[in-house]
Amino acid sequence: MANNLFATKSLQRLMSETTDSEHGLKRALTVTNLTTLGIGAIIGAGIFVLTGQAAAQYAGPAIVISFIISGVACAFAGLCYAEFASMIPIAGSAYTYAYATLGEFLAWIIGWDLILEYLFAASTVSVGWSGYVLSFLNDFGVHIPAYLSSATGTVLYDIPNLGWKPMNEALKNHLLTSGISVDSLQHVTCLMNLPAMFVIFALSLLLIIGIRESANFNNVMVIVKVSVIILFIALGFAFVKAGNWHPFIPANTGEWGHFGWSGILRGAGVIFFAYIGFDAVSTAAQEAKNPQKHMPIGILGSLTISTILYILVAIVLTGIVSYTLLNVPDPVAVGVNAMGNSMIWLRPIIKLAAIAGLSSVILVMLLGQPRIFFSMAKDGLLPPVFSHVHPRFKTPYISTMLTGGVAIVLAGILPIDILGELVSIGTLLAFAIVCVSIIVLRKTKPELKRPFRTPFVPTIPLLGALICMAQMASLPLDTWLRLIIWMAIGMVIYFTYSITHSKLRKENNNLPKN
Ligand code: ALA
Repeated sequence: MANNLFATKSLQRLMSETTDSEHGLKRALTVTNLTTLGIGAIIGAGIFVLTGQAAAQYAGPAIVISFIISGVACAFAGLCYAEFASMIPIAGSAYTYAYATLGEFLAWIIGWDLILEYLFAASTVSVGWSGYVLSFLNDFGVHIPAYLSSATGTVLYDIPNLGWKPMNEALKNHLLTSGISVDSLQHVTCLMNLPAMFVIFALSLLLIIGIRESANFNNVMVIVKVSVIILFIALGFAFVKAGNWHPFIPANTGEWGHFGWSGILRGAGVIFFAYIGFDAVSTAAQEAKNPQKHMPIGILGSLTISTILYILVAIVLTGIVSYTLLNVPDPVAVGVNAMGNSMIWLRPIIKLAAIAGLSSVILVMLLGQPRIFFSMAKDGLLPPVFSHVHPRFKTPYISTMLTGGVAIVLAGILPIDILGELVSIGTLLAFAIVCVSIIVLRKTKPELKRPFRTPFVPTIPLLGALICMAQMASLPLDTWLRLIIWMAIGMVIYFTYSITHSKLRKENNNLPKN
């Protein structure tokens, strides 16, 4: 049994599955589609929400260095993903790679772990989407009832000039200095986050209708967000006041992670979220026209473009406004405010770009998850219903509906910070396993054809894995506990269902008898 746990799927077998016309998915994605899919998944809440908070609290203008550090770490993992994606171009991403190298049990672990990345990221980003949409509608005088605007049980207060906000110490102090008592404010207890639930519902529907339709929608969203980001960078440079960059690395406050070099590292950990998503390209391998050649370009191309844009936005943003003012949910909009009245027209455009950006992240995450379920069900580790393909739309519609259903519930009831940290720890674990797997496979199967080769093996994968593990170690204990509980649930399912239904096991067990 122990041996069976680590039984790997042969590459020949995996490749025959790729060419198997029975898999039913449509090969419709070009290299441009794959790259925009990557950019679609990457640029979102990280840049539109987290950059300012990380600059204000941890790194100051040196958040630019945090972006470079986190980008380099992701590039190491990205290079490993690119080698795998060119070698094993099958839907299912890191799950499939682990099945070929580390065996079924670890493949299950990573498949189960990827749910934290994709499904939970869709819910996390939908909460950010909801915030931007509410603010955009507010600007046009459309108000969604406050009790439908946040996670279940969140208490919101009607703050003069700020609108409905959850209470915190800073806000309490601000109100006290203005002579307003918290008790005098109107407040509501939220039922659910309705806009967040709505966007997941709508995008799941689109994903069921077709991969080409979804890719086209994603292309439009990516064009909108990237154009507006470039516009912000181009216009913003004229408003930079070099004084805002001094000191570039604010002195450490005496506490680890608050400015200085430790703050830069902590900032890198926080904005790691901004890079999540390049690996989502690998989940669409079975729908790519020429996966072996185009997957590495899609993964590395989208990562490079996003990294350059992030660094430029960080330089401009911290140049036009003091980093101390950026601890807000919409830092880029604050940057536009600082450009002065002549640029006020850019404000709604920035919000629109954020809404487009976040929509595409949610879309690609909701696209990736069912395709991982699809591969796991094809292998017998999940019930066959997860691999059903719609006869007309050619999409894995049942797993898309299930993913959407669970994501809707999470988006409606859970707050963003719990969800976000789980996404980061889950993704880091997946990246670390992929990096290690590259080293394993170079040793165990050196003869395999690798259309793309990670350079400097084992140094790059080793550094990739180590940096991911270091970033995991910096996350709070609560997040680790949630990860452990999640994995324990996964083990129960594996040992009660998957182990008895695994197709590979059934075949391996039959072999001696034949
Ligand atoms: N990288 C994605 C974002 O920042 C998850 O929204």
